[in-house]
Amino acid sequence: MDTKGRYQHLTYTDWTVRETQFEPDQFRYRETVFTIGNGYLGTRGSFEEGYSQASPATFIHGVYDEVPIVYTELANCPDWLPFTINIDGDRFRLEKGEILSYERKLDLRQGILSRSVRWRSPNNQIIDIHFERFANLADEQVLALRCQLTPVDFAGAIEIQASINGYPENQGFNHWELLDQGKTEAGVWLNLRTRSSRIQLGIATSIKISGAEASLQVTSPPGYPTLIASFLASPGQTVTVDKLVTVFTSKHVENPVATACEKLVQLPEYSFIIKTHSQAWEEVWQKSDIVIEGDVTAQLAVRYNLFQLLIAASRNNDQVSIPAKTLSGFGYRGHIFWDTEIFILPLFIYTQPEIARNLLTYRYHTLPGARRKAVHYGYKGAMYAWESADTGDEVTPRWLPPNDPYGEDIRIWCRDREIHISTDVVYAVWYYWQATNDDEWMRDYGAEIFLDTAVFWSSRVEYNTKHERYEIREVIGADEYHEFVHNNAFTNRLVQWHFEKALYIYDWLYKTFPDKAIELEDKLLLSIGRRSRWSDIITNIWIPYDESTGLIEQFEGFFQLQDINLEEYEPRTKSIQAILGIEEGNKRQVLKQPDALMLLYLMRQSQEPPYNPHTLQANWDYYAPRTDISYGSSLGPAIHAILASDLGKTAQAYERFMQAALVDLENVRGNAPEGIHGASAGGIWQAVVLGFGGIQMGDSEPIAHPHLPPGWTRLKFKLIWRGKWHEFDLGNGEWGQGDQGAGSRDRGNS
Ligand code: BGC
Repeated sequence: MDTKGRYQHLTYTDWTVRETQFEPDQFRYRETVFTIGNGYLGTRGSFEEGYSQASPATFIHGVYDEVPIVYTELANCPDWLPFTINIDGDRFRLEKGEILSYERKLDLRQGILSRSVRWRSPNNQIIDIHFERFANLADEQVLALRCQLTPVDFAGAIEIQASINGYPENQGFNHWELLDQGKTEAGVWLNLRTRSSRIQLGIATSIKISGAEASLQVTSPPGYPTLIASFLASPGQTVTVDKLVTVFTSKHVENPVATACEKLVQLPEYSFIIKTHSQAWEEVWQKSDIVIEGDVTAQLAVRYNLFQLLIAASRNNDQVSIPAKTLSGFGYRGHIFWDTEIFILPLFIYTQPEIARNLLTYRYHTLPGARRKAVHYGYKGAMYAWESADTGDEVTPRWLPPNDPYGEDIRIWCRDREIHISTDVVYAVWYYWQATNDDEWMRDYGAEIFLDTAVFWSSRVEYNTKHERYEIREVIGADEYHEFVHNNAFTNRLVQWHFEKALYIYDWLYKTFPDKAIELEDKLLLSIGRRSRWSDIITNIWIPYDESTGLIEQFEGFFQLQDINLEEYEPRTKSIQAILGIEEGNKRQVLKQPDALMLLYLMRQSQEPPYNPHTLQANWDYYAPRTDISYGSSLGPAIHAILASDLGKTAQAYERFMQAALVDLENVRGNAPEGIHGASAGGIWQAVVLGFGGIQMGDSEPIAHPHLPPGWTRLKFKLIWRGKWHEFDLGNGEWGQGDQGAGSRDRGNS
């Protein structure tokens, strides 16, 4: 820390995040920042030697287990990192002895986390220690950790211990029962099972030492198998220890522990594994990289956000999706929200559509849960869970305890009322289909999702005979500060859009795959009567919108609420809801995150009503100052950045953009310890490509209308549209000058 008690910021180069000081106060936030993964699992950036302040975690997609209050959570899996070093009886720990030099860095290009320390032990022996680790992208069940030890000024005995910790905890709760453990010629293994979901996990590890003659031993305290190596080292001599790990679960193979042991024996050398891993990363970046010149912080931050999403998305499993905090922390317990479809999906749809397909297919597999939810609430069709996990059943907690021990429990209404999720899912289905022309997927998966959620809406929408219009009452819109509203414009217009597209898809299916259309007609009871109700809803649903002023009323009665001037609350460090309380917040015209503006953003892509430049301006002027953008939801800033940039508000756009881009790297909201803000990361991709790059997907191909932030001299990325790659290499025109492609070096060139 510096003299003012602030922590030392990370430093950035094009591809690397660097920490140049050990900062014990920043443990958990930095553990999130230095998360690595490979789409199968994610491992937080905890130190190998272990500390009491640490919160180590490895999460494997789909490994959920029951827990009180929130029903189910991703179980923290056995920790594969433990690695201790003893030098003549002194155990290497950063708060003991003296740190003579320190650097930890995450290489985003290759997905490798490393740390170099020169340490003086309490016994006054100086040693260079270099760690590196990665989760193999080329072979997902393989993890690797290398430690290199070079005595600087002494010759002596060194002992290392490499273990697997079979007692991982989810904030005090251990999901695992130990079944068995043992050793083989190659190393040691553990066999465990989750307590309720009974998912079996097998994990095995080996070590290999080069640069010294070592004696090897195994100890196996229950649940903590350990490989021990001792050797003599002399000044300047580097000894390398490679710890390799394999991990399988019964979600994936029949006998995980046997598979893990077999795999361990077959593993090639570390140097070969790291080579194939780096090659795999190179291929990924070929598709998804974004180059920014003229602003190194933005360059690094954008790559960092992409990296965190690229390691969170499953490449080989379509039964799982990306949790709100990715696989990087305990926040939201591994639950999946609209964050995935609305914020994260575009990156994948337009750069790696096969991953987008996996993520959307998860919603197909969870239709049974969505149907159970609809039945529970007395509706028809499929009603998606606001928070979803393995089955698709609703897992939003009903009640949460307050922070104040004498306070009342808090009822979480999102499970009952934040129902726009069902259309958020199909919004992504639609754009996936538009971008890929993947008709087979639409036939086999997408259409059923689309049509059965339309069936739900048709049973949820009410007809108001007095006003002769359809309405949707008792909802929560995108803005969660208002928990009981009628006719939220965002929800109503999206539902209208949903029916428009559902009828289109129904007709398309009928023409293109009539057998499938008939099958779904029977299965989902899509009678002519039902479909004509959909058309009637399209024509007669009420959207609170004044065409003459262009102003959308967020919901019925919003303009009658008490107004607020957010500036009067500055300076502050808390959200308005934390300051006013839930009840008072409900009574004011203050938003947690964009709502009417979110609607305009979603309609901006296809320029559908009520989106037009005039409504955008009118609603921006009204809602932006009333949005708790810095302390409300982290989903807001990237969207505001895009809209501000459309409106030529240069400084504000950039400020919002950086606020989102650095949310985890610089712990902007103070909650980075809970995990990566996945939606914000996805919003960053949209802000760069759809916002600053101004990409519009026309009917034929994507076209750029760039307006780059000042200082950005180049913006370069690639998009795949209907099977064809389009490369964009954009230069800086006049910021805010408009959207006619000013400064574009190359527009839509494929
Ligand atoms: C936001 C939601 C979001 C959720 C998970 C909430 O604070 O208001 O929009 O889906 O966090 O990120």
